[in-house]
Amino acid sequence: MAYSDKVMEHFTNPRNMGEIDNPSGVGTVGNAQCGDIMRVYFDIDDEGIIRDVKFKTFGCAAAVATSSMATELVKGKSIQDALKVTNAAVCEALDGLPPIKVHCSLLAEEAIHAALWDYAEKNGIVIEGLEKPKTDIHEDDEDSEEY
Ligand code: FES
Repeated sequence: MAYSDKVMEHFTNPRNMGEIDNPSGVGTVGNAQCGDIMRVYFDIDDEGIIRDVKFKTFGCAAAVATSSMATELVKGKSIQDALKVTNAAVCEALDGLPPIKVHCSLLAEEAIHAALWDYAEKNGIVIEGLEKPKTDIHEDDEDSEEY
């Protein structure tokens, strides 16, 4: 299994790692299958722009690299634009992931959605296009296997 140079670079030098005190929104998502967990913190201003974002990921190299890249991609964006940062977009920005590691990138997408959901709940607003995120991405695998 080979990681791209960009994945290795983001894994060894992750961007936006850490926490935000009193975040506008925080979301935590895990993958029960591998035990990895990611938490995302947002600082969102009155205009709905993501001024700062931090993450903590306990996970594999792909999970750390996708967390790093995903947070870079949403920083400075509006909430609606942040919703467009899918796991596919993150993988592409990292020059791809080995096929068995693609599921790891789902953690970042779901954790971003979870943090936005938290922000919406705290502020009593509805974010168009945002569905209630899962707390465990592995649930999704099980659901899709049934169909
Ligand atoms: Fe768990 Fe990658 S192996 S997120």
